[in-house]
Amino acid sequence: MPDNLENKYNWHKVYASAEEAAQQVPLRKLQQLELNGKQICFAHTQTGFFAVEDACPHLGYSLSRGTTNYLNEVICPWHSHRFNLENGRECKYRSRNAVTYPVEVQEDGVYIGIPK
Ligand code: FES
Repeated sequence: MPDNLENKYNWHKVYASAEEAAQQVPLRKLQQLELNGKQICFAHTQTGFFAVEDACPHLGYSLSRGTTNYLNEVICPWHSHRFNLENGRECKYRSRNAVTYPVEVQEDGVYIGIPK
């Protein structure tokens, strides 16, 4: 883990390797994970792996039931708000940002960081 991130987050290993993550969550797919009682939407896109809180900032629908697009956004299935997977920003500022979590791909696994 990069030193500057080591102390800010509790890191949770969610897959044994990048290959396993890609197998479980194929390209352009989403998967709901639960970490420390938090629902997380794990995304696999052309850009890599991402994690956001699995609650749409608009009205709380599960983002992991949505889809992704070529702009590296997750699209909520209810009212189609689109959130950038890197910074959480809704593309038209229709709602507050989605909560994003860092994903680290290490040799021994894929980790999601939950702030301490
Ligand atoms: S609940 Fe997600 S866009 Fe409305």
